[in-house]
Amino acid sequence: MIKKAVLPAAGLGTRFLPASKATPKEMLPIIDKPLIQYAVEEAVSIGINEIIFITSSEKYSIKKHFDKNIELESKLKKIGKEDIIQKVNPNKFFDVQFHYLNQAEQNGLGHAILEAEGLINNEPFAVLLPDDLFFSEKSCLHQLLDIYIETKSSVIAVNKIDKDNIHKYGVIKPGNDDLQKILIDDIVEKPKAEEAPSDIAVCGRYIFNPSIFEYLKKVTFDNSGEIQLTDGIKNMLESEDVFACLYDGEKFDCGSKKGFVHATISLALRDPSISEDIKQLIREII
Ligand code: G1P
Repeated sequence: MIKKAVLPAAGLGTRFLPASKATPKEMLPIIDKPLIQYAVEEAVSIGINEIIFITSSEKYSIKKHFDKNIELESKLKKIGKEDIIQKVNPNKFFDVQFHYLNQAEQNGLGHAILEAEGLINNEPFAVLLPDDLFFSEKSCLHQLLDIYIETKSSVIAVNKIDKDNIHKYGVIKPGNDDLQKILIDDIVEKPKAEEAPSDIAVCGRYIFNPSIFEYLKKVTFDNSGEIQLTDGIKNMLESEDVFACLYDGEKFDCGSKKGFVHATISLALRDPSISEDIKQLIREII
């Protein structure tokens, strides 16, 4: 049903300098996998087979990472490490087409999504912000897909955020009480805590009908010189239903150092090959 996904990955990653100077921040690993691969796997797991990265020219290592590496595969075979080949060239990516679009100017998330219009070809599509990492039995995107199948309306993932942090997010005004299928009444990007319409914030997963492009084209630059995706959604609300789904699961904001370390520890504790050692280490440190 949803076959295409857009992954914006053109940011400078200033919070991770100097690590992000030569390595895109999306390529920094959580344990042994680059952050962006988690989002790609989430997309592929619901049947998406075209991934559109919005990148900048310096981020060629993202392309290298998702290209098949035959040379490394044959080296691994030669030294008897066949078991690792699935990590290098996973079967699940064989049928996936990867596209790379260059966002020459950093004009905001809405602008980045607009770059993909030509490749979306008037189909519904998903947007995944790779900084947000989700863990749940049913993936965040799958939770959205269920609502999309039922309503055929655009749907975005949300979670509850405390007052001190609400200014970092898009925030919705709910139009009903059904938290699994909230009809959005209004949406505002990064409001001051006292002006926020609720404590329900947008997290980085969306499914859009292609009409979003028309609404995005009407958006003007905000005070920080950006075209906000949130403003495109706000325009959409004037003529179409847009739903929000309260995400059921864990979420890590890997765009911040705290969230990145939190995700790393949390994943390490789930990895059977290292979890006992890590628990012991944490006990010793504390
Ligand atoms: C973006 C969106 C914001 C959303 C957030 C989720 O903000 O503009 O509406 O709540 O992602 O992570 P950014 O984090 O890029 O500033």
